[in-house]
Amino acid sequence: MTPPVDPPARLVGDGLDVPCVDGTERRYVNLDAAASTSAFPSVMAAVEQFVPMYSSVHRGAGYKSRLATAAYESARATALAFAGGVSTGVPTGTGTTGSGTTTGRRDDDIAILCRNTTEALNHLVYRLRLEPDDVVLTTVVEHHANLLPWGRVAVRRYVECGADGTFDTDDVIAGLDRNPRPRVLTLTGASNVTGWLPPLSSIIDAAHDRGVPVVLDAAQLAPHRAIPAQADYVAFSGHKLYAPFGAGVLVGPVATFADGDPFLAGGGAVDLVDLDEVWWTEPPEREEAGSPNVIGAVALEAALEELGRLGWDTISAHEHTLATRLRRGLAGIDGVKVLGPSLDTDTLAIAAFVVEGVDHALVAARLSAEWGIGVRHGCFCAHPYLIRLLGLSPADVDAYRAQVRAGDHRFMPGAVRASCGISNRESDVDALLDAVSVIATQARSGEEPPVPYVQDTDTGDFWPVSDEPGWQGHERETGASCARG
Ligand code: ALA
Repeated sequence: MTPPVDPPARLVGDGLDVPCVDGTERRYVNLDAAASTSAFPSVMAAVEQFVPMYSSVHRGAGYKSRLATAAYESARATALAFAGGVSTGVPTGTGTTGSGTTTGRRDDDIAILCRNTTEALNHLVYRLRLEPDDVVLTTVVEHHANLLPWGRVAVRRYVECGADGTFDTDDVIAGLDRNPRPRVLTLTGASNVTGWLPPLSSIIDAAHDRGVPVVLDAAQLAPHRAIPAQADYVAFSGHKLYAPFGAGVLVGPVATFADGDPFLAGGGAVDLVDLDEVWWTEPPEREEAGSPNVIGAVALEAALEELGRLGWDTISAHEHTLATRLRRGLAGIDGVKVLGPSLDTDTLAIAAFVVEGVDHALVAARLSAEWGIGVRHGCFCAHPYLIRLLGLSPADVDAYRAQVRAGDHRFMPGAVRASCGISNRESDVDALLDAVSVIATQARSGEEPPVPYVQDTDTGDFWPVSDEPGWQGHERETGASCARG
């Protein structure tokens, strides 16, 4: 047996204890990195160092404003380099430094700093100025953030997936080759549900061979693998890559943003304004009306630099170990089914699974209340994908939709998702496997949980009936619905 390997990095808050319904405290096992991540210590240090110098960006003549503006622009350059698959942590001779002098992207690309991937994609959809008849090729694997904004402005054509939740390049080519030719292909770099990694390189090449630009939702890819520089547009979030301070990034060619109205109108985006006239300034400032989130930008840059120092080889080797242990371990438990690609497929360290005979919401509630393990359950903001992964029939779908429309979320289908980040250990995965094994065994033998659980109609979530601190009835409002997506 090989000894456990230390994770490449620690995160702020790792190792804290949380209360459980048996009255004990246990070390919190955070297996929810796909939803959001805690901060690298270096991110916290960068924020603490910057805050005394905090001031307005691109608006002030003061010395602190100069520093804040320089910090903000440095973050922008680093984000651009990162979106080109370029390591931003370690100076490499004449290559990239934190100031991003070399990128793997085209020279006319810009990075727009925004809140998160959802905002970045909405922003881009607005700026592409599509016509209602234009076709956007996307996939049924997408997060809602990469489905809903496109549906507002254009016709969506979908690449279907198989029962294993994957498709191949030929499936995308079939969508590209149908008439009318899509104006754009938009897809995820990695599934937030199954951790599946679409074959991006060949897909992007196929789109480019046909003159179709590619938008990459890199929210899940960015913390785990290099972003392919060939993608024309890239969106990602700081909060998923250890910089949870509210900054995200949209990268694309400056020409997209050079004409027409910006997504947000307001101060900082203009050169001239009169009561009936506006002269927008140049991108990227044109796209960033309002005072920017400079602390978020500082945090983002520090995280990108930390990822660069660690290196993709180290990160992906660690995650490969966790992915194998997690997915094979869950699949080996009687009564547990792992959704998505075969166990031989290289995925991120994410597993969506169901436990036979136990509601996904109850599994997640029990893992938290009895074992101190944090996971997510439900449909993970990817309803069409879950319908396919769960193999629901049209009648099943109609039935739960009717109940949700009537305000009853108890029968919302879904799965449990465990997702690892950079600081997870093999022992975290083992803790989950042990707990899921208990839940599955009890379900098979008809044994009740050690405390009763009640399900909330409005959210579908379960709550233990307990007098223990942290789990008393009046503390329930601190538990938000995690089934909504
Ligand atoms: N998109 C995030 C998730 O997958 C919130 O959980």
